[in-house]
Amino acid sequence: MKIAFFDTKPYDRQSFENIEQNDVKFKFFDTKLNIDTADLAHGCDVVCIFVNDTADAEVIDKLYELGVKIIALRCAGYNNVDLNYAYGKIHVVHVPAYSPYAVAEHAMAMLLTSIRRIHKAYIRTKDFNFSLGGLTGFDLHGKTVGVIGTGKIGRVFIDICNGFGMKVLAFDKFPASDVRAEYVDLDTLFAGSDIISLHCPLTHETKHIINQSSIEKMRKGVMILNTSRGALIDTDALLEGIKSRKVGGACLDVYEEESDIFFEDFSGHIIDDDTIARLISMPNVIVTSHQAFLTEEALGNIAETTLNNIKEMQEKGYSQNELCYHCGKMESCKECRNRKCF
Ligand code: NAI
Repeated sequence: MKIAFFDTKPYDRQSFENIEQNDVKFKFFDTKLNIDTADLAHGCDVVCIFVNDTADAEVIDKLYELGVKIIALRCAGYNNVDLNYAYGKIHVVHVPAYSPYAVAEHAMAMLLTSIRRIHKAYIRTKDFNFSLGGLTGFDLHGKTVGVIGTGKIGRVFIDICNGFGMKVLAFDKFPASDVRAEYVDLDTLFAGSDIISLHCPLTHETKHIINQSSIEKMRKGVMILNTSRGALIDTDALLEGIKSRKVGGACLDVYEEESDIFFEDFSGHIIDDDTIARLISMPNVIVTSHQAFLTEEALGNIAETTLNNIKEMQEKGYSQNELCYHCGKMESCKECRNRKCF
């Protein structure tokens, strides 16, 4: 069996090569999957992709023509795959959980960095500047955090926030009974939160869930955290919110237009994207490059689950991590036969 890996970095290769495989050949490509690069999968049974690869209808047709049988996402989110179109042609599997702790802890790390001005202090002390002017932060204890999406990552983040002595408001399309938070409607969450953290998937319902109108409903000085998917936020509206001082800060691990920028080194170049450049120029904005998942534990789990998914599909013809083509969701399919609606 041959697997073509797209958009790979040295740490991806290492984590997959650490797992001993018989009769499996890996072909690693730096390039992202799109219609111009799909031909690289020639002779491969499986295509393994990440968050910024594109598997739209055109690419799926091309892969199908080449004889590819499985698209194995080595990530949880699958908004970059046209699931409905793939149905009946190519099986799509993903890694539903690899370390919710990695992402939730990164969200809290960004929040603490921002509000305690660690990013500024680090640069100062590196330059032997030990002054404290401009570094005043605020306590998290007693503050209210609004969490949108209380799945695996949202719950861990909620537990962390509870540990800090914060009050937690939550919104989820499918609320759970064992979450240590008070479920409220979105408007109540927007109006009552000092900090808002996004942990829901990107769907047609959640696209731009943070927009001009929702920002208007928020508290002055609200902090917005996004470690989920960039397009949950209308970036122009966020920028305006920061410029008008309504939004007190943003911690972004993801960005709507990240696919041509993130994971690459542009340090010697002029960035064409004025929006991300303006955001990065703000003292109260912290951007990381879709890094929240990047822990040793998560990489190991991703490689192991991805290869198991492929093995299950090959040997049994199904995988528990095959995505639902009809509804595009895992969580809502619990009632269906085999937890799938196809
Ligand atoms: P999950 O599937 O366990 O939880 C998602 C939650 O969102 C569920 O409780 C679901 O009911 C809820 N939800 C679905 N539609 C909603 C809606 N319209 N409004 C409100 N809530 C809704 O997913 P998990 O593992 O917690 O991951 C969350 C997201 O984090 C993923 O979809 C992915 O986009 C992102 N992610 C980011 C990573 C990074 O490195 N930055 C790494 C892994 C995931």
